[in-house]
Amino acid sequence: MNKDLLTIEHLNVGYGKKQVLFDVSLSVKEGEILGIAGESGCGKSTLARTIVGMKRQYEGTLRLETNDPQMVFQDPYGSLNPSKKIGWLLKEPLRLDRQRKWSPGEMDERVFEVLEKIELDRALLSRYPAQLSGGQRQRVAIGIALMRAPRLLIADEPVSALDVTIQAQILKLLAHLHEELSLSILFISHDLRVIWQLCENVLVMKDGRVVEYGHTGEVYRNPQDDYTKKLLSAAGIR
Ligand SMILES: Nc1ncnc2c1ncn2[C@@H]1O[C@H](COP(=O)(O)OP(=O)(O)O)[C@@H](O)[C@H]1O
Ligand SMILES: [Mg+2]
Repeated sequence: MNKDLLTIEHLNVGYGKKQVLFDVSLSVKEGEILGIAGESGCGKSTLARTIVGMKRQYEGTLRLETNDPQMVFQDPYGSLNPSKKIGWLLKEPLRLDRQRKWSPGEMDERVFEVLEKIELDRALLSRYPAQLSGGQRQRVAIGIALMRAPRLLIADEPVSALDVTIQAQILKLLAHLHEELSLSILFISHDLRVIWQLCENVLVMKDGRVVEYGHTGEVYRNPQDDYTKKLLSAAGIR
């Protein structure tokens, strides 16, 4: 049995007086991909922000067995500094690394390693984000997240802004990284088809509450909650 990398118990989160997450409990084990599903506004991004410490006020238990969970966002264009070249952007997590000092040679070596993992050509290192395609930019964002070899990736709608064919390529890349690095992933998506392609387990949220949580195959074959049934049929799955 793999151990939990992330444990959340009875989590309540709000903005000011408005409560957004209600009594959320879940866990992500080493090497697991957990999908978080639910319609826009149900609190998925709030959950992600709380896990990575961007949202500090919460009630309940949040235990991370890893120091360095990394985020990937929906819009890589918004998260990549447009005035910096790809090579510079990939090195940024190493320059900011407080655990150790990286020499220029070590940084180059790590960049080349990660480029292979995200399947991008070295020629792209001297380009700017605007000179890349949407799929390439999302690969770069994933690469930046991987630079310091995290064990947990939190991906918030990482393929939602991409065309279906590019979506499939990025999902394949994430599945491959999961295998190769036994990387755990909390994968957030409003799209149940995308979750089906990637995630071993799924948690469905509605209005900030967990309405269904289990093995993806079982949940999709035999959903217990009416809301899950509704989402699945709206997605053309059942
Ligand atoms: N910074 C914020 N301040 C106040 N309310 C917010 C903030 N961010 C999100 N919300 C509200 O919290 C709820 C959940 O939002 P969010 O976590 O972004 O959901 P999702 O990612 O599932 O679309 C929504 O009602 C949203 O309006
Ligand atoms: Mg969101």
